[in-house]
Amino acid sequence: MYKLYPYFTNDGSVGLFSPDANDIYHSTYGALTEAYEKFILPSDLKNFLQKNNEIKILDICFGIGYNTKSFLNFIYNETIGDNNIKYIDELGDDNIKRKIFIHAIDTDKNLAYLSPFFISNKKHTKNNKLEFNQDKIQRMMSDKFTSHFELKKEISILLLHKIFNNIDNEIETILFSKKYNKYFDKYLKGLYRFYKFNTYKTTPYKALYRVLHNIYYRYLSTCYKNALKALNLLDFNFKLSIEDARTSIKNDKNKYNYIFLDAFTPVKCPCLWTIDFFKLLYEHLEDDGMILTYSNSALVRNAFINAGFYVGKIYSESAQKFTGTIAVKNKTLIKHELSEYDLGLIKTRAGIFYRDEDLTLDNGAIIEAHKIEVKNSRLISSSKYIKEYRRNNGI
Ligand SMILES: C[S@@+](CC[C@H](N)C(=O)[O-])C[C@H]1O[C@@H](n2cnc3c(N)ncnc32)[C@H](O)[C@@H]1O
Repeated sequence: MYKLYPYFTNDGSVGLFSPDANDIYHSTYGALTEAYEKFILPSDLKNFLQKNNEIKILDICFGIGYNTKSFLNFIYNETIGDNNIKYIDELGDDNIKRKIFIHAIDTDKNLAYLSPFFISNKKHTKNNKLEFNQDKIQRMMSDKFTSHFELKKEISILLLHKIFNNIDNEIETILFSKKYNKYFDKYLKGLYRFYKFNTYKTTPYKALYRVLHNIYYRYLSTCYKNALKALNLLDFNFKLSIEDARTSIKNDKNKYNYIFLDAFTPVKCPCLWTIDFFKLLYEHLEDDGMILTYSNSALVRNAFINAGFYVGKIYSESAQKFTGTIAVKNKTLIKHELSEYDLGLIKTRAGIFYRDEDLTLDNGAIIEAHKIEVKNSRLISSSKYIKEYRRNNGI
């Protein structure tokens, strides 16, 4: 059965956990912060926007839309600047500065429904409190979609999270005692353990406010309506395709300035990390465009290089380490080149990339073919390479 559990990440934004995949969709470090650090900061948007009025973004694997949201927050601040939101109505046509097109793609319709695609920006809101209209919430909860997705239950669990935090250890005694066993299902217990052993800096109240905000903002908030007005001033166009990214991009005539690639890891979703998919992206990237991804994998970097790109690394000042990869057509856009070590690594078996010539294979078939290619390869193994590299460099 289709199930996803929400949890609070460290910046108060909501992440999702899939028990089927036994994997999280967003890092517990902070879903929104991560999107900003991995996709917005390294894209050098400020510089781009000084020279260009029009921008096209391709958000591959939209999910609940943090990368797009983070981009929009950035644009919103840049464009509306210090204008107080209450003056938005008074801004005239001459304030139209930016033409923005975002094409977001994901196979999962339910996630897209969960995502209001503009998140609040306290600086620009009249007041920080959202007023929840119970009638509207009730109506929304009884939608066909929400009953399918069991959103109601998910929200209840989040409310329980708030309660757990307040009544401390007592809940543990109740939840796991034989006496009360029949009242609590295993998911609730699993979720309790998940919360219990992950310490969050945000106060539960603040976190709760954020999740409700995330979900209902689009429907209830006056801030959202104001933000929409701002977006109207920006000549904003948003297209969401619910289909396999390969099909969607094959049928797309646009070229993009930025492509955010946020697929699950290569072993889980190899179809979006193949050399052939990257060749397709090459055709859809502007000459001064940039593909950004969180992956540091040697096979991903090698696939980009063999698809015709120049490849560089993303450096995070806050984490003080490399946190991803960029692929570009214009080499001068690279700030952090691949090191001698990285270049050596992609020439080992770890650099053997995935293939999907017709862009139609399923993930299992891609993995199988890759296994065979690695097995038959005469390339040096990555472990041998790393050992030799360390020895030669006295590490
Ligand atoms: C790591 S999550 C992305 C998180 C997302 N960027 C967000 O802000 O919530 C990966 C996403 O890839 C989607 N996905 C998996 N296979 C896909 C495919 N072939 N084409 C498009 N999307 C796919 C999943 O539905 C999932 O939402």
